[in-house]
Amino acid sequence: MAVLKGKRILLGVTGSIASYKAADLASKLAQLGAEVDTVLTAAATQFVTPLTFQSVTGRRAYLDADLWGNEGHVLHVRLGKEADLVLVAPATANTLAKLAQGRADNLLTLAAITGSAPLVLAPAMDGDMYTNPATQANLARLAERGAHILGPQSGHLASGLSGVGRMVEPAEIAAQTRYLLTRDGPLGGKRVLVTAGGTQEAVDPVRAISNRSSGKQGYALAQAALDAGAEVTLVSGPTALAAPAGAMLRPVRSAEEMLAEVLEQAKNSDALLMAAAVADFRPKSSASQKIKRAGGAPQIELVANPDILAAVGKARGKRLKAVVGFAAESQDLLKNAQQKLKAKKVDLIVANDISAADAGFEVDTNQVVLVSKQGVEELPLMSKDEVARAVIERLSSMLL
Ligand code: CTP
Repeated sequence: MAVLKGKRILLGVTGSIASYKAADLASKLAQLGAEVDTVLTAAATQFVTPLTFQSVTGRRAYLDADLWGNEGHVLHVRLGKEADLVLVAPATANTLAKLAQGRADNLLTLAAITGSAPLVLAPAMDGDMYTNPATQANLARLAERGAHILGPQSGHLASGLSGVGRMVEPAEIAAQTRYLLTRDGPLGGKRVLVTAGGTQEAVDPVRAISNRSSGKQGYALAQAALDAGAEVTLVSGPTALAAPAGAMLRPVRSAEEMLAEVLEQAKNSDALLMAAAVADFRPKSSASQKIKRAGGAPQIELVANPDILAAVGKARGKRLKAVVGFAAESQDLLKNAQQKLKAKKVDLIVANDISAADAGFEVDTNQVVLVSKQGVEELPLMSKDEVARAVIERLSSMLL
């Protein structure tokens, strides 16, 4: 998905063994639609070549020699000024020192002090180089000036030692870059609250009643809202998914925990997207010790959980302009969705037929109907990412 279409990234690659991972990073950024101009330092070319980056970005990769080449002496100015973001990954101790001092003795460091684009640094070096007071002072100075410093992480290092100094993985750097470059979208400045996943209702310390929700649709909504520029709080039941970069994750387990978190967060939100599959019932009481088999099959009495969406709909704060509910139905889809729209006092219901093989729980696709007071819009079978983008587009028009 070309979320970074029209965005220009200046990717600086410096002389660390992690530079081989920078090719993967460049590829990921290009796949997100960004125009990636790569500048390699002389030391970087000991590990990787310009051709590597040209092949994955479809654009030229530059070397110091290009500074004096036939593109004129202002190449560094053009590269620096046209960039929406300058990303140095991997960033060696040497390049960090130069950037901290404003030294400009190669094409990369020249370009980096030419423009005013946000600077993102992904340090990579051996553990002792990283903890060295000079490196720490340089990083502190760069952070103070507003640079975004990602990592480094701890783990195996090229020296054979293990410690802090590994470059953050390319997927994570690309995700953070995606977040930073999308702040000016149509939902810029808006706070969107998303719930996702199923809740777990404890039976005893090891067992719970839950459902088959994977959280995929809710996490896709969170990503789509971030891509549209919103600040996102993601209240999530237990899932195997990683929260999208930039989202503020609030993990919860039970419906009651989710209710408390949603009511609190809703006060400071412009919109709520209630995609979580909340358990409607919970055991009346949860055993404090593990229920033993020898005691025979237990009778578990259930009581009703609070309806979170209805609770928010009833006590809507001033700021909350749009509330979107989801309806998972196995029959009478439209009738039930329309009834939920009214009963829960929400602005939009995204309804899906969970009996269809390629829609609903666990799968990557979904087929939904958008039901509001204004009418009914049937969307075709799409990926959950596409459904999320369609819902966020609708949300943007609701928040205008
Ligand atoms: N929902 C909620 N709290 C609950 C149950 C559901 O906030 N205790 C929300 C869901 O997150 C969803 C919407 O209400 O956005 C509709 O959920 P759904 O399970 O389809 O509806 P229910 O109200 O549970 O009705 P039923 O299960 O009878 O269809």
